[in-house]
Amino acid sequence: MSKSTLAKCLRLAIILFNTGIAYPTPLENHIVRTPAERDAPAGLSINGATLTSKWFEGSDYVQIIEMVLSNSDPVNSFIKADNLTISASSTSFNVIRPAKITRLMAGQKIVAQIGVKKNTEVADGSSCSGTVTATWGDAQIATTDISGICGFGDYEASKTSLNHHWNPDWYNDAKFGIFIHWGIYSVPAFGNVGDKQDYAEWYWLRMTQPEYKSQTYQHHRDTYGEDFEYDSFIPSFTGNAFDAKEWVDLMAAAGAKYIVPVTKHHEGFAIFDVPESTSLRSSIHLGPKRDFLAEIMTAAKTYHPDIRRGTYFSMPEWFNPDYAQYATDCCGGFPGGPPKNPYTGEEVPYTGHVPVDDYVTGLQLPQMETLAYDERYETEIMWCDIGGANNATIMLSKWLNWARDQGRQVTYNNRCGYGSTDHTDTSGGDFITPEYYSIDETLANKWESNRGMDPFSYGYNAGTPDSGYLTAQDIVTTLIDIVSKNGNFLLDVGPMANGTIPEIMQKGLREAGSWIKERGESIYGTRYWQTTSGVGDFRYTISDDAFYIHVLNAPNIPSKGTTTLLVPDAVPFLPNDKIEVLGGSLSGTTVTATKNENGTVEISVDSSLFAADRYAWTFKIIYES
Ligand SMILES: *[C@@H]1O[C@H](CO)[C@@H](O)[C@H](O)[C@H]1NC(C)=O
Ligand SMILES: *[C@@H]1O[C@H](CO)[C@@H](O)[C@H](O)[C@H]1NC(C)=O
Ligand SMILES: *[C@@H]1O[C@H](CO)[C@@H](O)[C@H](O)[C@H]1NC(C)=O
Ligand SMILES: *[C@@H]1O[C@H](CO)[C@@H](O)[C@H](O)[C@H]1NC(C)=O
Repeated sequence: MSKSTLAKCLRLAIILFNTGIAYPTPLENHIVRTPAERDAPAGLSINGATLTSKWFEGSDYVQIIEMVLSNSDPVNSFIKADNLTISASSTSFNVIRPAKITRLMAGQKIVAQIGVKKNTEVADGSSCSGTVTATWGDAQIATTDISGICGFGDYEASKTSLNHHWNPDWYNDAKFGIFIHWGIYSVPAFGNVGDKQDYAEWYWLRMTQPEYKSQTYQHHRDTYGEDFEYDSFIPSFTGNAFDAKEWVDLMAAAGAKYIVPVTKHHEGFAIFDVPESTSLRSSIHLGPKRDFLAEIMTAAKTYHPDIRRGTYFSMPEWFNPDYAQYATDCCGGFPGGPPKNPYTGEEVPYTGHVPVDDYVTGLQLPQMETLAYDERYETEIMWCDIGGANNATIMLSKWLNWARDQGRQVTYNNRCGYGSTDHTDTSGGDFITPEYYSIDETLANKWESNRGMDPFSYGYNAGTPDSGYLTAQDIVTTLIDIVSKNGNFLLDVGPMANGTIPEIMQKGLREAGSWIKERGESIYGTRYWQTTSGVGDFRYTISDDAFYIHVLNAPNIPSKGTTTLLVPDAVPFLPNDKIEVLGGSLSGTTVTATKNENGTVEISVDSSLFAADRYAWTFKIIYES
């Protein structure tokens, strides 16, 4: 007799003994039925199943159908994967990998993926359709029609075509990236402080705005004098203490899984080898005569090949004379050049300027292509900024097709300019990019919040006191909050002009990294839990075989005291599951937990448990097998 059949007989015997009537009353008795005892779940539904543009990393182009499964059964009932199969059928493709789900409690929704391969006679990129089905044992319990694009055809230079593209799963898995703003603005390193503070990397534009709150115009005159042009800072951008390996080692120590160096900001000064037909305004042609970007990319590839390599690129340049025809008031003003001395109104040279017939086709497009195709760079994330005049659909479609042919999945943000560049508008890129703020609810669309370690600057601001920078605790709790809502966190560092990353930033990154890496399974590769928006002190993440509860603030427990921690949401915890502490000196300790009737869970904790960790506390629900 199998264990489950035995359980069934015992249950029946108990029911008969108690009541004399042979029907189960599970809710009254607070008995959660095991899968073998229960009928097929009535409340399972399949939502939004889509033939995506993604393939499983490392597979031979196994195409991903992605969907959201939800369980609307009564509280405390659950679906365990044992007898559940989510599969698909079609005359155009075959299923290679059915969906893998471990558990789905009532009220829960989770993202599930099926891997399919189109039949050989079906052309890549052609329309196809089929059915996605959930079966329980032999019974079909949910089904949905699906139609879309089979295989991986060519993208065309249009918004419609690009809107078919999804960010790849490696980007979903990576969660934490480091942004690096390092340019001529790192020399004056000024953006004022407190409520007058503004981005230090905006120094040059602010210098031309006498009324602007940061008072950069006044600061420049008082510190350097009216005759000192912005480009006179170029020789001081030395990078003489720059060591690419030290940088990428630091980023790895921080637990970052991708980096996004600024390759050229709005000042138009590139730190990579721009084609000479487009510009000589770069660190290769001027100042240190070094290809800093190549040094960073090579060091990352050599020493930390698991770290993905992206590139920030400003689409416009404030004062490039060839940008004047495209001048825009967007985002604080992109007037085009030539630049003028703000104190005298006199025109001054745009150092390194190479005149081109058209800024977009003659400069912007070839520079982006260099970042994409030149083997020194080969970016995996095209992180555009500002939008404005552009040939992004041309650039991105060609790049996606090229990358696909090599089996590489690349991605780009929503600021390239072919759709809206509003930071929360999803129509113009693979992911949205809230800047210096986070999103309060879980979004199904991928998002990435970016900000500096500085209170309000990406570039180095020498005026910021050490106490102003994000601490490890800030970084860890922000990361957890973002990840629990389907976001990534792109955290910026602003190195000094000589290439030194300020000690205070290094400290925060290393301390945060030691926390993040020790609890990596609860961050990297996890998926969001759609059930709650993540409010109060609790945040949740899920992996294939575990569920993570993150507590952002330690409860008040008297020394040597104990308390009950009420997890306020109906987390997928069943009586035979184990809950363990993850991370800290008591990592692996099992805690006692009970499930309430309304699905919430109470965990008994004592003060030593919270004293054993820092920044945030993570509990892991290990599903009974
Ligand atoms: C799965 O389904 C089969 C057939 O319906 C049943 O015999 C078995 O007990 C089920 N197992 C579980 C774990 O639900
Ligand atoms: C880099 O510059 C900073 C700021 O000017 C200075 O304090 C530091 O000593 C420099 N580091 C090296 C190695 O030159
Ligand atoms: C490419 O840029 C040129 C110059 O701005 C413009 O005329 C053209 O329409 C752009 N093409 C696309 C497809 O965006
Ligand atoms: C669920 O039940 C527990 C224990 O009775 C209670 O403390 C908690 O407030 C309840 N939560 C909700 C959302 O009703």
